[in-house]
Amino acid sequence: MRADVFAELLRAWDGEEVAVRFDRATETWMLVCVHSTVLGPASGGTRMKVYAEPHEALRDGLRLAAAMTSTNALAGLPLGGGKAVLAVPEIPTGERRREILLRYAELVDALGGTYVTACDMNTTERDMDVVAERTRHVMGRSVEAGGSGSSAPATAVGVFHGLRAAAAHVFGTEDLSGRRVVIQGVGAVGSVLARLLAEAGAELVLADVDEGRVAALAAELGAEVVPAASALSTPCDVLSPCASGGVLNRETIPTLRCRVVAGAANNQLGEPEDADRLAERGICYAPDHVVNAGGIIHLASLELLGEDEARRDERLRGIAETLGECFRRAEAERISTGAAAERMVAERLAAARAG
Ligand code: NAI
Repeated sequence: MRADVFAELLRAWDGEEVAVRFDRATETWMLVCVHSTVLGPASGGTRMKVYAEPHEALRDGLRLAAAMTSTNALAGLPLGGGKAVLAVPEIPTGERRREILLRYAELVDALGGTYVTACDMNTTERDMDVVAERTRHVMGRSVEAGGSGSSAPATAVGVFHGLRAAAAHVFGTEDLSGRRVVIQGVGAVGSVLARLLAEAGAELVLADVDEGRVAALAAELGAEVVPAASALSTPCDVLSPCASGGVLNRETIPTLRCRVVAGAANNQLGEPEDADRLAERGICYAPDHVVNAGGIIHLASLELLGEDEARRDERLRGIAETLGECFRRAEAERISTGAAAERMVAERLAAARAG
């Protein structure tokens, strides 16, 4: 553990607090990053991952927690932003996994509701059932345990609404029939999105590093498959990154051959200036923090706010309106859509602070 890097990262961060626990028995670093509680309890998932160094886990947690502040604010939810990272020496299974989750749940509970957790990379509904044994500040438990289950289908529905709104903005119609859409990553979110797009008549092109998975889905939907390495540069109307973050950067943006980018992946831009690079190329970027809010909307609506599925679906459709507002502001203020989304977040937080 590099104490100097920890200190540097925390000093540069604009969030509220980080709770750190080192679980000696399992050599696991538990980091709960509370970026903002201005709009409500800091909410965001628990990422379990193997990192070369604990400070890399902290870097990830700080960045992802800040992203959740933006996502939750833009989704109009009464929630702040947070994220937790369990930096494990190897992905645990069985009793060891349970032990880690129970001790992690005690840490979440000790924060008294400042942070509300959920699933993220490498954590599942079953894990949240275990976490719920020691704290009530958890969403995304399995349906059998009284939770609302996986958030991925709702995330896909939200991306679909966003994609239609972006199409309306660029092509003058939200009708996706005949539009060529490349989906990079057909996992939990990308596969559901692919089905929704197929139903809407889109011409689908799929890419995934898991060749078996992409071949099976393509056969089912009659879609084309391209190698994962060429997903970004495949000519299309819409590119939908649904794999991992950082895919839109100084190197990749010049190679894109699409008119619209709208996908689920978190933190798609390598750096904020990449939004300007996309705008300069005439590519309409639907900011990920607006488009991928469906998952947290699903969890918060059904589990925290006690709403029914009809109200949740209405909130999911709201993603299209928020995106429309973002496009209008970008044009009116001559800024990128990424910058417009940031301004919308800042205004929502300022209004809440003013009170
Ligand atoms: P997942 O792990 O189920 O699926 C990701 C898929 O991308 C996998 O099939 C994987 O093989 C593939 N992949 C990985 N690297 C690739 C590459 N270089 N090229 C092509 N394919 C690649 O994850 P999930 O849940 O579908 O999430 C996808 C993205 O959406 C992630 O960035 C996640 O953080 C984000 N997201 C997910 C939410 C959810 O509710 N599941 C909510 C908000 C964001």
